[in-house]
Amino acid sequence: MIIPELQIGNISAKIPIVQGGMGVRVSLASLASAVANQGGIGTISSIGLGDIEGSAEVCERTSLEGLVNEIRKARSMTDGHIAVNFMGVLTNIDVLIKASVHEGIRMIVFGAGLPTRLPALVPDPDVSLVPIVSSARVAELILRTWDRRYERITDGFILEGPLAGGHLGFSPEQLEHPEDYSLEILLPEVLEVIKPYEDKYGKKIPVITGGGIYTGKDIARMLSLGASGVQMGTRFVCTEECDVSQQFKQAYLDAGEEDIVIIKSPVGMPGRAIYNSFLKDLEIKGKLKISCPYRCLTVCKVETARYCIALALLNSYFGDVDNGLIFCGQNAHRIDRITTVKDLIQELLSELESA
Ligand SMILES: Cc1cc2nc3c(=O)[nH]c(=O)nc-3n(C[C@H](O)[C@H](O)[C@H](O)COP(=O)(O)O)c2cc1C
Repeated sequence: MIIPELQIGNISAKIPIVQGGMGVRVSLASLASAVANQGGIGTISSIGLGDIEGSAEVCERTSLEGLVNEIRKARSMTDGHIAVNFMGVLTNIDVLIKASVHEGIRMIVFGAGLPTRLPALVPDPDVSLVPIVSSARVAELILRTWDRRYERITDGFILEGPLAGGHLGFSPEQLEHPEDYSLEILLPEVLEVIKPYEDKYGKKIPVITGGGIYTGKDIARMLSLGASGVQMGTRFVCTEECDVSQQFKQAYLDAGEEDIVIIKSPVGMPGRAIYNSFLKDLEIKGKLKISCPYRCLTVCKVETARYCIALALLNSYFGDVDNGLIFCGQNAHRIDRITTVKDLIQELLSELESA
């Protein structure tokens, strides 16, 4: 089998694998550039890159500086394709997106919120705009809005199913029945709603599926169902190049299936994480003390939030996993070793070929 390339707008990746953006600081320059060097698309996560203590002004300035530094560092490590992932609920999202484009980023991935203003913010057609969706309904809503307002369509969609890591675009009730929202069910629905827009604009809208993709066989299945590529997060965490602490990676290696749970996040969406002493403690205490000089998320209600998610994720990044939140995908328990990005991608491609 010839490995198909992944075309997203003007970007042609040699292999149909996108490494998903992972915050806080899980996917930075080191991981993203390693994936890009193997022919995939590496994604830097833009969230939580600055100080979270100090004045709002300092937090905002350092988050911008942090992102620009990661983009420049990634650029110095690869000539391959680097995307940046944004959450729609970030307070300073406009500034961060504009800075990324200014730094030469040619693919913007937008999740956790509706990207209704994105084409106005990034009018350059050379920059691929790729929203993350979890249903055909939202994909259609975005296409309809952009078509009417901007006479433009998306350059692709990431379709994220219920087995993914981090925040999830499903209700807790839906997550009790993930089989009803599997990628195998969602993908044909999305392909159907995008068709009239592909016809109208005479261009393909690639759909990249993510959430629970673990082997090359999984990738082959997605491609055979009409996906143009896959997005993977969890498997890239246990690579040498992944930017998080060793303790974070070890928590993945130690996790059993029963340790992987759905949590309520201050972001207002459910999330998937490893049940650890931080979550146990939270159950007992009900609420942790928060000091928040900087409202990094538009949706976080500091007065009622049970904990500061930025701090909890940052603790895990630094290795204080007992006081930290560890996001992971449903398949994290299957990982039993740390590998390199190169070896992981070789393994996936050889499985894809034999599938
Ligand atoms: C540790 C972790 C953090 C994540 N953080 C983000 C994030 O900040 N923004 C986002 O859009 N997706 C986030 N994701 C989702 C990934 O980008 C990816 O789409 C998803 O994990 C794919 O499913 P998989 O982990 O089963 O491969 C995160 C996933 C993980 C595992």
